[in-house]
Amino acid sequence: MTANSKSRLLHSLLLIAATVTSTVTALKTGIHKHETLDTWFLVTEQSSYVIGATTEGYIANLHWGNRLERLDDLNATMDDTFFIQNPPPTYVTEELPVFGGLRYRDNVLKVELPDGVRELNLLYSGNANITDGYMLDLDLRDGNRTDVLVTLHYEIDIDNDIIRRSYTIRNGLDKRINVSKAFSAAWHLPTALGSDEKREIMTLAGEWASEAMVESTELRPGVTHVIQSQRGFPSHVSYPYFAIRQVPSDVNPSTEVYFGALAWSGSWEITAHTSLFGTTRVVGGMHHQDFGWTLEPNESFTTPVFAAGFTNKGMPGARKLLPRHVRKYQKKNLETQKDDSVYHPVLYNSWEAMTCVFDFTIDKQLELAEIAAPLGIELFVVDDGWFGARDNDSAGLGDWYPSKKKFPNGVKPLSDRVHEYEARNQLVLNLGMPEVQDYLYETMSTFIAENNVDYIKWDMNRPWAEMSMHNYDRNPREAAVLSVEGFYSIIDRLKVKFPKLWVESCASGGGRMDIGVLEKTDQVWTSDNTRPDARILIQYGASLFLPPRLQYSWVTESPYDSNIDIPLSFRFHVAFQGGLGVGSNIEKYTEDQLEETTGWISLYKKIRPVIQNGDIDWLVQPSRLSELVAVSQTTSRDQSEAVVLGFRHNSPFSTPLNWIRLRNLDKSAIYTVKVWGGDPHKAEDEYELSGALLMHRGILLNTLNNAMFKSVVVWLRRKD
Ligand SMILES: *[C@@H]1O[C@H](CO)[C@@H](O)[C@H](O)[C@H]1NC(C)=O
Ligand SMILES: *[C@@H]1O[C@H](CO)[C@@H](O)[C@H](O)[C@H]1NC(C)=O
Ligand SMILES: *[C@@H]1O[C@H](CO)[C@@H](O)[C@H](O)[C@H]1NC(C)=O
Ligand SMILES: *[C@@H]1O[C@H](CO)[C@@H](O)[C@H](O)[C@H]1NC(C)=O
Ligand SMILES: *[C@@H]1O[C@H](CO)[C@@H](O)[C@H](O)[C@H]1NC(C)=O
Ligand SMILES: *[C@@H]1O[C@H](CO)[C@@H](O)[C@H](O)[C@H]1NC(C)=O
Repeated sequence: MTANSKSRLLHSLLLIAATVTSTVTALKTGIHKHETLDTWFLVTEQSSYVIGATTEGYIANLHWGNRLERLDDLNATMDDTFFIQNPPPTYVTEELPVFGGLRYRDNVLKVELPDGVRELNLLYSGNANITDGYMLDLDLRDGNRTDVLVTLHYEIDIDNDIIRRSYTIRNGLDKRINVSKAFSAAWHLPTALGSDEKREIMTLAGEWASEAMVESTELRPGVTHVIQSQRGFPSHVSYPYFAIRQVPSDVNPSTEVYFGALAWSGSWEITAHTSLFGTTRVVGGMHHQDFGWTLEPNESFTTPVFAAGFTNKGMPGARKLLPRHVRKYQKKNLETQKDDSVYHPVLYNSWEAMTCVFDFTIDKQLELAEIAAPLGIELFVVDDGWFGARDNDSAGLGDWYPSKKKFPNGVKPLSDRVHEYEARNQLVLNLGMPEVQDYLYETMSTFIAENNVDYIKWDMNRPWAEMSMHNYDRNPREAAVLSVEGFYSIIDRLKVKFPKLWVESCASGGGRMDIGVLEKTDQVWTSDNTRPDARILIQYGASLFLPPRLQYSWVTESPYDSNIDIPLSFRFHVAFQGGLGVGSNIEKYTEDQLEETTGWISLYKKIRPVIQNGDIDWLVQPSRLSELVAVSQTTSRDQSEAVVLGFRHNSPFSTPLNWIRLRNLDKSAIYTVKVWGGDPHKAEDEYELSGALLMHRGILLNTLNNAMFKSVVVWLRRKD
């Protein structure tokens, strides 16, 4: 194929036709339909997403990227002259490519109809519905069987340049049908700036205790990248997130990034296929392996949300938008999260203080609580081992009542005692897999009400297997999805009954922290690995989607670093990147250690408003391969304050760190800069500098020199 024919083909494949017209309709943010054409413009602060119905009725994506100016710029007129080898539906950038007809690329939806037919041909029905300027529904129906109906749902987060997509399929036939694949959406990325330029896909790999490791690999034409979990929960192995960014070159400085994440706490798959023309199609949703859903006449099924966004501000832009989006929806959905000035508490978890966790007594818990309270701890958490016959690792999981032996008078005495302290003090439940939702809901409600519990940590440690053994009288392939929905419904019901109850999501660490569960729970446990140098890498990866306040981090003597002398200050500074917890055996702390702990907790409470409500940026990214240096900067949205956390694991050549240039400050303002190293009670340095100098020349973190595990906290405040 000649370059010329390739470009002509590309032109028509993209279905984009520029028209010259004298009416200029400036595009405001929100969702707009063209006056005469079936074209919809989804406009956010920095991006536009345009879809249109072709004359054949396919709903196609016409543009996704930088914000457009006019409604008249695009229409979905189709020219099929060039499709001799590739019939239209194959190359149309269909919003919902189904299994059926002449479609040979990754599809999103597959059904089985009563007469044995398994193909659909979904076309625009003519019904569109824009609600409140930010939601759009488009109705599609099957060309030949008008009674299979699909409604595409779009919702835009205008401030954060994110589109949320899902759809509902409804059975309008008088017989049952089966859905055998129901991904949430297809996303179409145009060619990169400069057409033949390179793009990379960034994903998050992991294992238990090493979650959210950032990976990137080049997209190649003809190659499909697949990330997935088949474990029944999102899992540590991979995270349902992608970012596709252009690699800047000599001639193309583009910092465009497309990124997205699934709001689904079950098995999932995301694939990204790149064509020879440099376009990429991303599809994803609930995993289709062993998935099935039966729709009786008139029944419908709605997929989870697949949210995706665009930024031209590189990965720092993507890292700001998705966490902000998550926080926005968390605030929208949760009574406990409505108010930004209610901060996530400093918690103490007694798990690691137990020599044998299954052997604890209420007296021991009370002792720990007595030590924790004066340190400034605001939340007291009892982890695994409190319930039923939980005497060893092979017993008791799934019991829903407190152990009589460990709590002869119930849990209330402990709860009463911790509630006597001035701060908010709480208890945690730690659960295995729920079997019967109502039983769990009733038992948990009773327990929460009777014992005045403020907070539960919901753990899930066991991947699913033998799903079809569940005693459903429905299609056995629905079991995996029903389990996730059951989990959601218990949390929703508990949140309705106890609007002030806080819930932490955990699954052997970070196995369940998809953006769906983040809209239902208050915070997440990113990893069981609390070794601080490992934790920085985990926090680096998780900061792609987690708002800092949701990401809990504990100071411990973790089992993973018992032979290494990591200073308490370094442990605290790592935990300062998110919600702060302490998990050490504080009974064994010396007076000095207790005093240092009190000092760091007190400093944390001062910087917590910036840490918890700000945006995190990485000035030096941690690397698994080199000497560990990492510097993060969390900045308040109004640029009035920032906290820089700097870490250096070692420095074999005793060379100082280079100057660190800060970001996102107010150029013309003067900032007071205060620096702490190993002593929370004594700042190492204090000076004043302009925002411009801080950003254009930077600061020297010269205490990060040749010693092992050095760290600093730098607090910047704008002077009025
Ligand atoms: C759509 O684009 C085509 C190709 O440029 C043009 O011929 C047609 O007039 C346009 N239709 C409208 C309604 O603008
Ligand atoms: C749907 O699935 C159920 C359960 O596997 C099966 O019994 C039924 O025959 C299927 N129906 C159709 C229309 O495929
Ligand atoms: C449009 O969508 C809104 C929100 O989903 C719904 O309440 C309303 O009934 C819909 N209107 C039509 C005409 O479908
Ligand atoms: C309906 O089915 C016929 C025969 O299978 C096929 O030729 C035609 O393209 C279909 N029409 C639509 C709109 O899908
Ligand atoms: C489905 O809904 C339609 C309209 O509401 C109703 O007329 C029909 O009886 C229903 N069919 C079944 C099988 O329930
Ligand atoms: C674990 O605890 C249960 C309940 O107390 C007991 O029946 C069982 O023998 C214990 N198992 C082991 C291996 O100690």
